Amino acid sequence: MKVLRAERVASAARAADFPRPDLPEVAFLGRSNVGKSSLLNRLVKRKGLAQTSNTPGKTRLLHFYRVEGGADSLLFVDLPGYGWARVSKAERRRWQALVETYLEDRPALRAAVLLQDVRRDPGEDEDLLIAWLAERGIPTLVAITKVDKLKPMRRAARVRLLVQHFPLPKDCVIATSSEKGLGLGELWAAIDACVRDG
Ligand code: GTP
Ligand code: MG
Repeated sequence: MKVLRAERVASAARAADFPRPDLPEVAFLGRSNVGKSSLLNRLVKRKGLAQTSNTPGKTRLLHFYRVEGGADSLLFVDLPGYGWARVSKAERRRWQALVETYLEDRPALRAAVLLQDVRRDPGEDEDLLIAWLAERGIPTLVAITKVDKLKPMRRAARVRLLVQHFPLPKDCVIATSSEKGLGLGELWAAIDACVRDG
């Protein structure tokens, strides 16, 4: 999709604040600090659209962005990151409930993009999420993030390992760098395919 316009349409702390589901939606999820907001900005070529931060846990709400591309438009949904140690259990449970409410009951959802830092091994959180999305029949892509952080040899080895790890078709696991603008065309193609098929 060629992005002509992108703007935030809602920030929701509860289901009642989700926007009307009249456009196809693509949700971005992953650990705090994995690079969700950065990747979203880079995909729509708008640097400051989604707030990014060095402080994990910045995105505490579900942010909905309308992405317009001529004939077709969609919503990108920046979900709050998980795995942040410095919040109370109660708050963590509240976030989890909110994210699950969204993912479980959103017919407009066409794809989930799970982000995985190239330098980390996927943990139980990622594996459970992938299984959970598969059970619900939600098409899933994995964006491996921050590949610019590794030198080419090491990068290739890590990407190979992660592609093997996730139980998804090969072209659904995509190496990206928001910093260097890598993998964006591939990720867009995969997103477009999910939106079309839905
Ligand atoms: P939460 O909102 O806390 O869940 O985090 P997030 O997943 O939205 O991460 P965010 O996009 O805010 O990025 C976290 C940090 O990683 C920021 O300091 C970014 O500049 C950095 N970052 C994101 N993508 C890349 C990348 O591709 N390469 C490098 N080197 N740094 C990146
Ligand atoms: Mg964020």
